[in-house]
Amino acid sequence: MQHTKIKTLSSSDLGKTLTLCGWVRTLRDQKNFAFLELNDGSTLSGLQVILESSLPHYTDLIAQLSTGASVAITGTLVESPGQKQKWELKASQVTVFGTCPEDYPLQKKRHSFEFLRTIAHLRPRTNTQGAVARVRNALAYATHQFFQERHFLYVHTPIITSSDCEGAGAQFLVTSLNLQQVPRTSEGSVDFSKDFFSHPAYLTVSGQLNGEAFACALSDIYTFGPTFRAENSNTSRHLAEFWMIEPEMAFADLNDNADCAEAYLKYVLQYILKHNGEDLQFFDQFIEKGLIARLQHVAETPFVRLTYTEAITLLEKSGKVFQFPIKWGSDLQSEHERYLAEEHFKKPVILTNYPAHIKSFYMRANEDGKTVAAMDILVPKIGEIVGGSQREERADRLKKTLLASGLKLEDYLWYLQLREFGSVPHSGFGAGFERLVLFATGMENIRDVIPFPRFPGHAAY
Ligand code: 4AD
Ligand code: MG
Repeated sequence: MQHTKIKTLSSSDLGKTLTLCGWVRTLRDQKNFAFLELNDGSTLSGLQVILESSLPHYTDLIAQLSTGASVAITGTLVESPGQKQKWELKASQVTVFGTCPEDYPLQKKRHSFEFLRTIAHLRPRTNTQGAVARVRNALAYATHQFFQERHFLYVHTPIITSSDCEGAGAQFLVTSLNLQQVPRTSEGSVDFSKDFFSHPAYLTVSGQLNGEAFACALSDIYTFGPTFRAENSNTSRHLAEFWMIEPEMAFADLNDNADCAEAYLKYVLQYILKHNGEDLQFFDQFIEKGLIARLQHVAETPFVRLTYTEAITLLEKSGKVFQFPIKWGSDLQSEHERYLAEEHFKKPVILTNYPAHIKSFYMRANEDGKTVAAMDILVPKIGEIVGGSQREERADRLKKTLLASGLKLEDYLWYLQLREFGSVPHSGFGAGFERLVLFATGMENIRDVIPFPRFPGHAAY
């Protein structure tokens, strides 16, 4: 069906006869004519359509054009005398595909985000969710553009894996065993040799380890895919299924890594500032006042860089009473991260060189014997948005930390071989895509920036 998207309309279309398809947002019946607000998802504001009473079967037609009805409208694009829009469509023909009865839950009024989560199949039709979807799309597009421009190869790492990248045991088991009749070994444990993969398999928590294999062959790569965490985190910052961007760079140290992450965040924010103006203005007006200025500030000013140890000193001197008291060696909680980025520095902070015992096995040991070459980026409102490190490229050291983390060497022989055969210094990071969307839109809850959120107790749709 040939039709034009609202987003593509320009003044060169004035006077032309066009067909547009979409959903009725509102209809204002003025007796001799009616205003219809048409939305096709390509823009926030949609298009005003004028329906004159001379249209065939006008009264019947108007009765069918309630909020939510789907239509194709052919008409002429004319300049609008109204203040709100540059042009409007004077309809000459209307086809109604699907009418929409009065019990349609999205009548024109404000709905809470909690309520909208219970109708996740309909919420993309709301202004807020439409704007989130467009900004999310633009951030994904800009992500590929950023890495492709820098000659990073996009690598598809597996979703099902037998490795535990974060070594935290927060993985979902993937099995085809009959749970009513689980096969047992002679010792009584589950006999995974009878399972689909002949050994335990899980949904991946990160594509990093596989990404490293490709970086150790092709220099610079990135993954961008779904990752899964079976941790019982019921917060506005955690999902059980989330998307992660994970670049991995050969011949790169922690500084190069921080440079890449900072440039990446700035690039994608600049991209949406340039291309998603209407949506960002909506968020600025209705979700977070001052959002655009905040994003511009982040896109233009250098991030602060300091070590974990310096940050602990700052936190101790802050005079603030934290729910979780802080001292050297403890992991930063979100309240500490937010204090640093939001209150103290008022901009993104790159923290480096964390104590080894609070970080993962693959991070490169520093010469002090206490810290590792880790790097987290903390931003106002969110806390941690990026986590990364220089990787341990020395096989003997890596063996030690694998064992110390309680992992089995035989499961990581391939990973160790990357260090035994032409090992290279390399670094990478993971950027949480939904945290980035939260940051870019000012939305409060991570469940509202992914189409169908998965969290403890919920995997509907
Ligand atoms: O810090 P994390 O756990 O790091 C890794 O997984 C590394 N393997 C990445 C790498 O170096 N290639 O996760 C990275 C980022 C976090 O900074 C956060 O933004 C996001 O992923 N993240 C989550 N986002 C939503 N829900 C969760 N449960 C998340 N856990 C981590
Ligand atoms: Mg982390």
